[in-house]
Amino acid sequence: MKDMAQELIEVAAEACKHSYSPYSDFPVGAAVLTESGEIYAGTNIENASYGATMCAERVAVYKAVSEGHRRIQAIAVYATAADYAFPCGMCLQVLSEFAGDIPVLIAGKAGVKRYTLYQLLPHPFDKK
Ligand code: THU
Repeated sequence: MKDMAQELIEVAAEACKHSYSPYSDFPVGAAVLTESGEIYAGTNIENASYGATMCAERVAVYKAVSEGHRRIQAIAVYATAADYAFPCGMCLQVLSEFAGDIPVLIAGKAGVKRYTLYQLLPHPFDKK
């Protein structure tokens, strides 16, 4: 059976092909693995207003949540325009709403690096 990390990266890479990024020319793909084993993909979708642009990671998370999956057990992010494209702070915060200290796989033109969510965002905002 194919390694789950590899599978997630491949799904993120496939999603990256659908990127709508005419303004930045920086395509990104993401894939989240839900607690129950489904994979949801996302890509970045830009807008002429710039501010309405949505990152690939949040598209993937919001797709999962809107289909009823509120717990995420891993995420892969794929971009070829950088050595490693790390998720932005807003995406990390959104992920922290639906995940604990999960694996975050970053695939770029320099290879694949593996982190955990809390390595990238040690102190997520939480009112508790
Ligand atoms: N982008 C993502 O998709 N994920 C991130 O975590 C950071 C940035 C996108 C947004 C925009 O379309 C492009 O990358 C350049 O900033």
